[in-house]
Amino acid sequence: MNLFKSFVRSLATRLAIEQPSAPGAQPGQPSLEEIVGDRRLIVVSNRGPVQYEKNPDGRIVAKTSAGGLATAMEPVLRACGGTWVCHGSGAADFEVADADGRTNLGQYAIRFVRIEDQLFNGFYNGFANGALWPLFHNAFSEPVFQAEEWRAYQEANRAFADSVLAEAGDDPCLVIVNDYHLMLLPRLLKESGKDIAIAMFWHIPWPGRRVLRICPNQDELYRGILGSDLVGFHAREHVVSFLETMDRSIEARVDVEQQTVSHCGHKTYVRDFPISIDVQEVAEGSIAGPWEEPFPDLVPILRDKILFLGVDRLDYTKGIPHRVSAFQRLLRMRPDLHGHAVLVQIASPSRFQINSYQKLATEVRERCDAVNREFGTDDWTPVHLVERNYDRSSLFRLYRRADVMLVTSLHDGMNLVCKEFLAAKTDDAGILVLSRFTGAADEFPEACLVNPFDLDGTARQLSAALDRGPEATKADIARMTAHLRDADVYHWVRSLLLGMKDVLARKRADVPTTK
Ligand code: ADP
Ligand code: F6P
Repeated sequence: MNLFKSFVRSLATRLAIEQPSAPGAQPGQPSLEEIVGDRRLIVVSNRGPVQYEKNPDGRIVAKTSAGGLATAMEPVLRACGGTWVCHGSGAADFEVADADGRTNLGQYAIRFVRIEDQLFNGFYNGFANGALWPLFHNAFSEPVFQAEEWRAYQEANRAFADSVLAEAGDDPCLVIVNDYHLMLLPRLLKESGKDIAIAMFWHIPWPGRRVLRICPNQDELYRGILGSDLVGFHAREHVVSFLETMDRSIEARVDVEQQTVSHCGHKTYVRDFPISIDVQEVAEGSIAGPWEEPFPDLVPILRDKILFLGVDRLDYTKGIPHRVSAFQRLLRMRPDLHGHAVLVQIASPSRFQINSYQKLATEVRERCDAVNREFGTDDWTPVHLVERNYDRSSLFRLYRRADVMLVTSLHDGMNLVCKEFLAAKTDDAGILVLSRFTGAADEFPEACLVNPFDLDGTARQLSAALDRGPEATKADIARMTAHLRDADVYHWVRSLLLGMKDVLARKRADVPTTK
């Protein structure tokens, strides 16, 4: 075994022993703050943790963001402190902020990046979500590349860079750059010449290079990412794909054994760190009060019914139409469920200015109506679609009430909803139906793993899962929650920060690369 492998193995073993279940370190372990060391922590992402909006009465209210990135990074900032640089998308964000766009939340600060509407439209609705999102998810929505949206993307990335550099000042910093919106940012930060260590975390899948090569701007995007010292993915599969893409698409030297890419004299380390949630927060939230309180409209509908639950952003990668159709086929297959099973789909409106998202919303509504027309009776409506955003803590209570959680993404980097469901199931009762095409499927082989494109197969598996009986399903949930308690978001951030520390030590000892 070479030195590197033995180091990684010993680090992995150490981490396996040292996994803390809460932000505070266990005796003998460095705390998160100690791991960050003297560097100031800056997290940067397009979406931030909250948006400040104005009520009709003029009061400013904070609205929490739906989405895995915000869910995962928020407890990290709370535990480590630092600044979150993000787009100021709320109507009142700059009213609560000072002249630099900064507002202090106590445990950490937010610094809003100001991006004017037209630029944001090209950057976010255009290049990021009209081109990159469908491209990287390989989800049957054609990516559209437009030169002016590419320019908006470049300009918006520069605006984020200006904001991060202003925030950093002359301090040595550790910047965690998040996601596909900001692929150019690592290089822009590196080229500033400041003492900034950069970890980029990629929250979505990294598909094969053959898929990505249709992007006319791929060279610039890859050069951008390769400004990072460390690039993190959810799954090993994405690490392998990324290394292959770099090897075959750009003038770079890839060391597969060491998982590094050398480009223009700079070395980037590539590792997998499966992201997670604050398990304790969800478990406590799920029992903080009765589920009926935040969902009064569902009370007469649910009563003693078997609750099939879906919770997602209204996004075409989440397989919501497929889920509704699989439920329809289950009802065709199982008359004994008529009058007894209800599917509640909570869908958070998302990216509503983009055409494909509007079309999806219409399709989901039509499919729900079709099931209700086929099976509904005077006192039973099989499917309820609720298109709104909730406090996450309300959702935790509903997860606990759910009998069957349906996570049927067509392609998903990780998926945190399934982890939230498991964390809320402290009584171990329930069934998790999980798409094979989520990062989470690697972690939870005990789930009812389905191919969401196979509607009949999914319906058959649902039927079989219902027949397994409570003892078997309880044992499955217990195994999955045991794993999740160890692999929570604090374990994730610890692994990422220790990974970064290791990378910086290696770089100090390393000779400069030539390619
Ligand atoms: P993605 O990042 O693609 O949205 P994830 O499953 O990883 O997918 O994360 C979704 C996050 O958004 C979860 O934390 C979930 O609780 C939250 N969420 C989903 N739907 C809603 C909703 N209707 N209201 C509030 N939060 C939501
Ligand atoms: O997880 C992928 C992601 O795009 C995150 O970057 C984002 O937080 C989440 O989905 C929600 O998307 P948006 O920020 O576009 O609402």
